[in-house]
Amino acid sequence: MPGKYVGMESGGLDPAEAANAVPADVTAFLDDMMRRYGVPESAAAAGDHFSTGSRGRYTAKDSAAMLDIAFRFHPRLLVSALGTPSPEIMKAARDRGMLVAALAGRVKHAKRHAEAGVDIIIAQSYEAGGHTGDIGGMVLVPSVVDAVAPTPVLAAGGIADGRQMAAALALGAQGVWCGSVWLTTVESDTLPVVKKKLIAATAEDTVKSRSFSGKPSRILRIAWAEEWARIDTPDPLPNPLQPMAVGRYMARIDRAAASGDTARRMALARWRAHRWGKWSG
Ligand SMILES: Cc1cc2nc3c(=O)[nH]c(=O)nc-3n(C[C@H](O)[C@H](O)[C@H](O)COP(=O)(O)O)c2cc1C
Repeated sequence: MPGKYVGMESGGLDPAEAANAVPADVTAFLDDMMRRYGVPESAAAAGDHFSTGSRGRYTAKDSAAMLDIAFRFHPRLLVSALGTPSPEIMKAARDRGMLVAALAGRVKHAKRHAEAGVDIIIAQSYEAGGHTGDIGGMVLVPSVVDAVAPTPVLAAGGIADGRQMAAALALGAQGVWCGSVWLTTVESDTLPVVKKKLIAATAEDTVKSRSFSGKPSRILRIAWAEEWARIDTPDPLPNPLQPMAVGRYMARIDRAAASGDTARRMALARWRAHRWGKWSG
């Protein structure tokens, strides 16, 4: 539920409008990358769960459609990332007896969430996987705790074991919120090839990139991210144009990685480590 995106004046571009707004040089770059890395053309097969372009379109319209579906499952907690939940969303959650939480990478975002009346603030630091800000946890967590007291705060970002949990509690958080650590669990639908890459990765193997959603997110340092970071390639587009531009190519890479045809394809498929869009449709 981002605070800023292209087309926000009208609640979000329709998929066709967003697709039409993708510049030709971006599509040409993506076609060329597929050719250079030998990623085959592929069509969606029956039972194929790889999506082809809608994921990561974080707009009010898309969020509303996903919330309608989510509400049918009677969740206890609604968590907003990338922006403060709107009064309408707060009301929809309250009417259903749900708690509301929101992620914050800066004190000013946390204050905004608190003013909107969220029940829990998640102070998500620079270390986090996925969309993340620029402030480290040692500084962010206590600052947010002080700024929004008495609203409870969970610490997020780089937390995967008990020592880190204890440190978060010492910084004033009431608990922790984890993301990356779950990607390698048995229950996770992360591709097996990606699970291996995640487990093998060290702290030096991540990078922040706008190449998936158009918003900065921490991912593994993979060929995909390096291609977008090159000086002679296009810059990632703003959200939701970037996910519209890359969606079908990501699905194509996923299929190649899942079929495990060649080591080269598997290498490029490392991008899959970061599966932000999966959670968001
Ligand atoms: C692959 C991936 C996808 C994520 N997608 C979302 C999302 O859709 N919504 C959200 O609120 N947070 C999302 N997050 C952020 C997590 O909620 C969490 O704050 C973050 O992962 C914590 O840092 P950690 O990865 O170091 O544990 C995502 C994180 C990862 C790693």
